[in-house]
Amino acid sequence: MRIDVITLFPEMFAGPFDASIIARAREAGVLEIALHNPRDYTSDRHHVVDDYAYGGGPGMVMKPEPLFDCVDAVRGMADAPGRVVLLTPQGRLLTHEVVAELAREQRLIVICGHYEGVDERVRTALVDDEISIGDYVLSGGEPAAIVLVDAVARHQPGVLGSPASLEEESHAQGLLEYPQYTRPPEYRGLPVPDILLSGHHADIAQWRRRQSIERTARRRPDLLAVAALTPEEQRIAAEAGGDRPTTVRVFRVIVPTSHMDRALAFYAQVLAQPGERVAPTRHYFRCGAVIVAVVDPRGENPDVAVRANPDTIYFTAPDLLPLYEQVKHAGASWVEDRIRKRAWGERSFYARDPDGNPLCFVEEKTAFTGGGYFV
Ligand code: 6GU
Repeated sequence: MRIDVITLFPEMFAGPFDASIIARAREAGVLEIALHNPRDYTSDRHHVVDDYAYGGGPGMVMKPEPLFDCVDAVRGMADAPGRVVLLTPQGRLLTHEVVAELAREQRLIVICGHYEGVDERVRTALVDDEISIGDYVLSGGEPAAIVLVDAVARHQPGVLGSPASLEEESHAQGLLEYPQYTRPPEYRGLPVPDILLSGHHADIAQWRRRQSIERTARRRPDLLAVAALTPEEQRIAAEAGGDRPTTVRVFRVIVPTSHMDRALAFYAQVLAQPGERVAPTRHYFRCGAVIVAVVDPRGENPDVAVRANPDTIYFTAPDLLPLYEQVKHAGASWVEDRIRKRAWGERSFYARDPDGNPLCFVEEKTAFTGGGYFV
């Protein structure tokens, strides 16, 4: 693979590109890196690469001509045309998947952005892809280019000791890595876990997988949402993450109505409470931790069309039979013909309130709230 880096500060790359993995990849001949300075592609006496922003505002903008001319010249230095990548905090986030995608290219031409940004025509007419390395602002794209080149280099064949290293790493599996130990077996009173010294490879693999899952559940639960876990592993994850209190809760759902009095008569009967008028076009019913807010949206905007909810609100009740009769007689616009047992174990019936909002009433002790799979 060949990577051409276009930068106003080529000296920033001297250390990072000449040591460790990147140096090894270059020496092995699987990675060729060339640095180019757009300043060398200016035609004026002062080699100007930036200018004031049209329309005013602080900061300078990188001029288009040196970047276009530099990329044009650099293109001709190798056979493959190369994908042109601009490093900018506005780019898509550099994740494991993006690294793997870039690593498959024969050639990358990486432009390091600087100053307040680059002329928009560089983005629209020169660049194929925009990449950011995280949600913070660097003073230039150079550190990001080093990050990108390092991450891509480790994907080149022969760069890592064994190809398995790539697959085992954090993020490759969508999980954080398990704890690693090396000799000595005890250091400052801190022992290496016995299992790692046991020589039982299957047990060790299982222990590591479990450590990965628990660590990810505690530190990066966002990753777990997309990781492929077996039901048993999901249980391990839920248990590890479970001691964190949930701080984000649902507290209100909206039931739209075009006939407030009719809706109130229905909900007061079904929920067996008068509720509370909190505004001329809003009435709140407290149902456990969640408020069912009966709202005429025309209170906010008289021209808006009142539309029924597209999705069902689910209620539980200890005893469905009396509730079934209540809902039927309270003015529901539709009620299912009978209480049914569902494939996921619930006993329930569906109905629509007088405004057509879909509701479902579930027998409390059968309510499915997760914990196991149903099909
Ligand atoms: Cl690629 N460039 C700059 N200037 N800041 C960044 C970045 C890139 N990624 C995150 N912050």
